Formats: sequence, structure tokens, C-alpha cells
Amino acid sequence: MFSLNKRNIRVAISPFCNLSCIYCDGPKSRKPNKPGAMEDFRRKPLKQGAISTDMFIKIIEALHLARFDGMTLTGGEPLLNPEWDLIVNKAKEIGMSRIGVTTNGTLLNTYLQKKGHLPKGLTLLTISLDTFDADRLKAITRRGKFEEVMKGLSEAKKDNPKLKIRANKVLLRSDMESLLDYIEFCEKSGVIDEINLLNLILKDQQSKRFFEEEFISASEVLDFFSKHTKYKFSIDNKYEFNTKLSSDLRIILKDTNLTLRNNQCINCPIYCQEGFYTVRVATDGNITACPDHKAELSSIDGVAELKRGTLFNKVNQLVKTFETAEPKETLDDFFVKNNIKLRKGN
Ligand SMILES: C[S@@+](CC[C@H](N)C(=O)[O-])C[C@H]1O[C@@H](n2cnc3c(N)ncnc32)[C@H](O)[C@@H]1O
Repeated sequence: MFSLNKRNIRVAISPFCNLSCIYCDGPKSRKPNKPGAMEDFRRKPLKQGAISTDMFIKIIEALHLARFDGMTLTGGEPLLNPEWDLIVNKAKEIGMSRIGVTTNGTLLNTYLQKKGHLPKGLTLLTISLDTFDADRLKAITRRGKFEEVMKGLSEAKKDNPKLKIRANKVLLRSDMESLLDYIEFCEKSGVIDEINLLNLILKDQQSKRFFEEEFISASEVLDFFSKHTKYKFSIDNKYEFNTKLSSDLRIILKDTNLTLRNNQCINCPIYCQEGFYTVRVATDGNITACPDHKAELSSIDGVAELKRGTLFNKVNQLVKTFETAEPKETLDDFFVKNNIKLRKGN
């Protein structure tokens, strides 16, 4: 079920965010500079609060020993952590072969002006860029400045032309009319190599109405592409479709329906894209096999286990749960259970 070459960790290195995206509705992220990492929303934070860079690095090292080979830094906004670049380079020294950062891009240009270069170890820069329309970007993020983000991307590409740049776009029904223009914009941008289309995740019950209005399933998006384009999508792993256009732009379409869920997921109030594929490290060092872990099941206190010298064994136990995980609930079951009535077909 869980192949070795796909073992990734996602490390939330900043509990703060400088934006407040409409779909990212953890209770605290709506206020600027209040803790808002996805990994922290749904459970009691551990006592120690956000951990030090040194501790992040020790945890990354332990996870690498447990054969996790890829790492993405996230948050909150990871570039709000002034040592994000140090963490990237240490991860490279440790031996991580894929190292990414997922950022809203608003601080990238300032970073490059100050430091001159991106950290050498970085192999993937993912920018959350929902639209190429500056007003719409502001409406979605409440503060994001399109020009600043694009400037950051072009400076990043100049600094390292080989760096893969991926644009994350959350699929919203109200944006479908402009989806093909968005793809064309990315093709012509000269900086974007991949588009990652993400299914909207229901983040909490308060946003249910928004979800019902805006969710659009991957199968409906595939139908849309087959009606309006010649793109041919295929699945080359367990949880996403993808295609490469003649311009070499790759489009990834994540499908929540393909998420690997197991018993632990049954009481979870969201239906995510990753399920058990990715291990998450929260800003306080809590480690789970889940992006939005509500129950405390299978969660590891990374700092305490490091001190006890038992982190490696604990992580290995956690990994064993992947190997026996099986999908236990479909997206349709989830809609029924949560009384979700989508606005259109899906
Ligand atoms: C939570 S952000 C954190 C990293 C960084 N601040 C950023 O903006 O990229 C990570 C990714 O999660 C996505 N995301 C947030 N809320 C989501 C939701 N409700 N459904 C699907 N994706 C979501 C964002 O679009 C972003 O690409």
C-alpha cells in the first residue's frame, strides 16, 4: 500500500501566516500573525509550543533514518521562519533527496533581495497561486499582492533556472470559467513548470456552506478537460492524475477520492488529499500520519521521544500502520455522513 519511494514528510516550521485565505479556515489563521499552521488546528498543542530549529533538524534526521526521503516545509507561512533556509540546507546534508517549500510567495522577493540566493538544497518551490487576476488573488488571500509574488518567482528562476516551480491552485467552482486561461497564463509565465490542482478540503463544519457551493470533484474537472481540451490524464501513482502539455507544462490533479484512509480516518471531520501518504510534523514537534489530525491516535510527541531516544522506533511503528491501511470510506460516504449537499452534480 505505502511504497518506499513515496515516503515524504511535511514539516510546519512556522505557526504564523501573513495571509488569510478564504478556504484555509483554521480557527486562528483568519487573523494575521496568529498561529495558523494546518498541522496545529485540530488538536491540543503540545506544551512546549513552537520548537527550535535544532529540534526540527533532529526530528528530520530521525525521520530520514526511518527511510523518509522527501521533505516539504510548510506552515503557516514557512518563510516567516527566518531559519527556513538553514533547515533546507541541513536536510540536504542529512541526505534528503527531495526538498521543497510550499509558500504563498509574498516574501520570496524580499528574501532574495536580502540573501541573494535560494538555499542550495531546494529542489521544489511550490507557490500557492490560485489565480492570475490580482484583484481575485487579493479577494482569496485577503492580503496577497500578485505583482510581488510574480517578482519573487522570476527572481527565484533567475537564481536557479533548474529549480522546479509548481503552482498550487485550490479548485473552486466559481473559478472554473477561468481555469483554461489560468493554465495558459502559467504556460506563458516562463517560470511555472507544474500546476497542482487541489480538491477543496472541508476544513471545519463552519465552512460547510462554502464547501457545498465551491467543491468540484476531480472527475468533474476531468470531464471538463475532455470536453474543452485534448489533455490526456493518467494515474501514475495512487492519489493523483497528471498530464504533460506540449509546452512541457505538467498538470497534476489531486483527487480526494483516491485518498488512502484507514480506521483512524473514520471520525475525521475532513476528507483530505493525502490520508496516510505523508507524515506531518507540527510546529510543536507533534508527528502524525495525517494532515489534520483531530484524534490523538497514533500521534507522536517528537521532542519527548527524541529525549527518550525512542523516536526512531515510534516512527517505525507509525509507518507499520500505513502498510496495513486500507480505504474504509468513500468520498460519497463522507458526504452522506456529514449531510453535505453539493450545489451541483459532482
Ligand atoms: C496551508 S498552506 C501553508 C503554506 C503556505 N502558507 C502557502 O500558502 O502555501 C499549504 C497549501 O494548502 C492549501 N490549502 C489550504 N486550505 C485548503 C483547503 N481547504 N483545501 C485544499 N487546499 C487547501 C493551500 O492552497 C496551500 O497550497
